[in-house]
Amino acid sequence: MAAPGGGPGAGGGGSFVRYRVPRRADQTVLDVVTWVQRHLEPALAYRFACRVGMCGSCAMTVNGRPRWTCRSHVGKVAPEGRLEIAPLPNLPVIRDLVTDMTGFFDKWQAAGGRFAPTATRRDPPARIAPASPARKAADAGIECINCGVCYGACGVVGARPDYLGPAALNRAWTLVNDARHGEVPGVLRAVSRDDGCHGCHSQGSCTAHCPVGLDPSAAIAGLKRRTLLDLLGGEGRS
Ligand code: SF4
Ligand code: SF4
Ligand code: FES
Repeated sequence: MAAPGGGPGAGGGGSFVRYRVPRRADQTVLDVVTWVQRHLEPALAYRFACRVGMCGSCAMTVNGRPRWTCRSHVGKVAPEGRLEIAPLPNLPVIRDLVTDMTGFFDKWQAAGGRFAPTATRRDPPARIAPASPARKAADAGIECINCGVCYGACGVVGARPDYLGPAALNRAWTLVNDARHGEVPGVLRAVSRDDGCHGCHSQGSCTAHCPVGLDPSAAIAGLKRRTLLDLLGGEGRS
């Protein structure tokens, strides 16, 4: 496990420390980290909040793969019982297993990810047909828990840190398809820049790693289509 005083990838390089932790039934990777912190390494820094897959704060690299740790069972991810736990890739390390998510969230803003309502609270609620293609596209990406797992798994982010990344672009696609959003042209401009959707290599690592089953790769494909149609002044947007 990466501890203490920095993990692999931290500014100073970091190092691994080996711990022995008792096995328990239904033990999660987060349980292991917590046991180490409570019994062996009180200064160990790591992040979690909900422990039930809602808050997105517990993501780490487990045996080389970015994962949420509160719902990753040791028996499934490391049946032989050996875990190598490190901070998420593609993010600066603050200490031990804690990464600085500032750049990750700044990119949500840079991708135009802030909702801009067209209605006021005095207006009646918008009526959006659940079966409409746009509503379905928006719904498909809306349950993102901001965990950063897809971002850590994305090779393009690793190669060029300015790339907006799968989570911010997935958010942008939900807004492009949200009939209540008043800034769709702004989103399309933001994601069309050099660091935007056209930098994606479409190999789907983000989708393969997303713990809640979202498909950022498909969202980015939608943005690519939509921005090209806009560039060509085309019709038939979807
Ligand atoms: S499909 Fe695109 S965003 Fe997803 S991991 Fe690959 S390059 Fe990154
Ligand atoms: S798209 Fe999935 S992996 Fe990426 S931040 Fe959202 S929930 Fe996490
Ligand atoms: S602790 Fe909240 S998602 Fe893992």
